[in-house]
Amino acid sequence: MKPAVLAFLSGIAVLFLNGCGQQHADAGPVAKAEPAKPAYVGATYAPTLKQQPSVAAMTALGRTMFSDPSLSASGKMSCATCHSPEHAFGPPNNLAVQLGGKEMNTLGTRAAPSLRYIQNVPAFTEHFFDDDGDDSIDAGPTGGHNWDGRAPSTHDQARIPLLSAHEMGNASPAEVVEKLKRASYAAQFRQVFGADIFDKQEQAFKWALMALEVFQESPAEFYPYNSKYDAFLRQQTRLSKQELRGLQLFNNPAKGNCASCHISAISPSGAFPQFTDYGLIAIGVPRNKHIPANADPKYYDMGLCGPDRTDLKDRTEYCGMFKTPSLRNVATRKVFFHNGGFTSLEQVIKFYVERDTQPQKWYPKAKDGSVMKYDDLPPAYHGNVNVEAPFDRKPGDRPALTDSEIKDVVAFLKTLNDGYKP
Ligand code: HEC
Ligand code: HEC
Repeated sequence: MKPAVLAFLSGIAVLFLNGCGQQHADAGPVAKAEPAKPAYVGATYAPTLKQQPSVAAMTALGRTMFSDPSLSASGKMSCATCHSPEHAFGPPNNLAVQLGGKEMNTLGTRAAPSLRYIQNVPAFTEHFFDDDGDDSIDAGPTGGHNWDGRAPSTHDQARIPLLSAHEMGNASPAEVVEKLKRASYAAQFRQVFGADIFDKQEQAFKWALMALEVFQESPAEFYPYNSKYDAFLRQQTRLSKQELRGLQLFNNPAKGNCASCHISAISPSGAFPQFTDYGLIAIGVPRNKHIPANADPKYYDMGLCGPDRTDLKDRTEYCGMFKTPSLRNVATRKVFFHNGGFTSLEQVIKFYVERDTQPQKWYPKAKDGSVMKYDDLPPAYHGNVNVEAPFDRKPGDRPALTDSEIKDVVAFLKTLNDGYKP
């Protein structure tokens, strides 16, 4: 995707695989987990108080709110219902999309992502120039929160589930504030934000979103960098032969080429890899028939160009693009891709290498027997779909990875789960 980054990555990979330690011994143990600076400090968004609340107080409140079901219309759903702390803040179950709403019986349209390692997601831009690599290359649409990059920050993001009819189902910010006022920790809320905070509904709502954001920036819970792969980068452990083969296949531009989008190497400035370049890319994931919205043949979730995102709805060259997710902790998930249509990592990787060589295995057939490739995107936009490696093949070609190589890549992906104990 980005040739400069790619060249650098394969360089690093070669260093690792040759066991030449010197190079990254200089770089590590860096674990530059970047912003220690809470987002609300100096943010024009943050309403002013006589005294700025401390990060510790905000974090504690945010943590309590995150798991409080009384903040939902049903009284049964909190952020943690879909973003389970025991599951890397991803979904705890195997549902493609989660149930929510007032009666807890409305299904959403997208898979719940993990909330780990999103602390450095850059603001959405249509033209991204990477200062770490070759900054003259326009990498295209990049960044923002959600699968379509539409939320500029995690505090803006938090409004969406609190107020969405198919999630926590509150009718208005005022309704959320009313619930906070009745919460068991209301006194704590007043202590942190001022005795009269509940009299100023708009401010109270904004501070509640800020508390959720500050909680989601706590390093130990949200970006611990303590996977086996991190330990390997710090030279505290070795990868098994199979995991190393998997890493090599993951990085190799002629094999998986995964690292061209899911960055796997320490950055030139010394930050640990996030396993995403935050780019928005169309890869032509098949339509998931189990999502109720998809019962309407005219409905398409096209990511960047809508319908959930509305500011770029006329930019048809963006239709079908979704944000490249981090692959950290991906092996803890039970459903994959924006529509949750895949249920194992083997299946995901098989799709990558067979989408173009054996499309009939992945897409339905039309009445005339032809394969409806990219069936979740109107035909006019099929040209938006990425065709770089491992997608650079045609029917009948050999897939970029064999079955046993796919197993190696899966073994490597499992080293990205947090909580490794040597
Ligand atoms: C019903 C399930 C559900 C609930 C409840 C829920 N979320 Fe989410 N969350 C999702 C889904 C689905 C997405 C992806 C939405 C999209 O792409 O449009 C998401 C996306 C996010 C993201 C964006 C991650 C990124 O960087 O791309 C953040 C942050 C987030 N949620 C935080 C929260 C917070 C905070 C709460 C509680 C106030 C919450 N969520 C409640 C399902 C849920
Ligand atoms: C051209 C960029 C690109 C390349 C190359 C690429 N990916 Fe992805 N990957 C993406 C995007 C974009 C998505 C999200 C697509 C969607 O949901 O529509 C994704 C999603 C995934 C997911 C699902 C994660 C989740 O949370 O649901 C996995 C697993 C994954 N990729 C693994 C791989 C592996 C393994 C390779 C190499 C064989 C690879 N990717 C190559 C861009 C890429």
